[in-house]
Amino acid sequence: MPMTNDQAGTRIDEIAPKIFRISTPVPPEAMPGGFTFNQFLLVDDEPLLFHTGPRKMFSLTHEAVASVIDPSRLRWISFSHFEADECGALNEWLAVAPDALPLCGALAAMVSVDDFADRPAKPLADRETHSLGNLCVQWFDTPHLPHGMEAGYLFETTTRTLLCGDLLAQPGAAPPAITESAALVWEPSEAMRKEFPYAPIPGAAALLDKLAATEPEVLACMHGASYRGDGSALLQRLGAALGNG
Ligand SMILES: [Fe+2]
Ligand SMILES: [Fe+2]
Repeated sequence: MPMTNDQAGTRIDEIAPKIFRISTPVPPEAMPGGFTFNQFLLVDDEPLLFHTGPRKMFSLTHEAVASVIDPSRLRWISFSHFEADECGALNEWLAVAPDALPLCGALAAMVSVDDFADRPAKPLADRETHSLGNLCVQWFDTPHLPHGMEAGYLFETTTRTLLCGDLLAQPGAAPPAITESAALVWEPSEAMRKEFPYAPIPGAAALLDKLAATEPEVLACMHGASYRGDGSALLQRLGAALGNG
């Protein structure tokens, strides 16, 4: 198993070409059922990290990044919305990577990031693309989905990987890095959504349709396993479930 820290159980797996999933488990003693915090490292001319991980897990995430690239090479620190597990360690990353800047939605930059972060963000408009070299990311605004008016997601266009953050979050401390079973993602994520309901989201189904239109082949989930398969179908299924309350 590609462990980078045996004690904490942090591991790193390449889930698509040049896209690495870093995962640190939280045991059932700390969170009922166990949980995982995942970050995604896109290795390219301009390496990008999607989610910083919680601030208190920084050393574990840093150790995992260092198993693939020199962390000081990181150029972009990106995330879905402003919350501890998404961007709590932002300034720690900016400190170790002198050329790195936050890369986030324009609203996040204006409301929180340009105050919180030690260097100004590069804001992305809805559907704006940004080349990393061979890989290319595109930002999609999805206000309040599943929380945070500034929420949005990055889609990597060459591997068709949607960095889908908290969407389809699954509990459990030891999920596979990636699965081709839609049921393995859908059933636990729906059970969790009912336990921790999303805020009522105006137009949730339309926002999920917007993401589904990217036709993702990989859904890179922030909590739980990633999914390889018909990503559009799973996102539309979530949209239908949210539409029905
Ligand atoms: Fe979140
Ligand atoms: Fe999260």
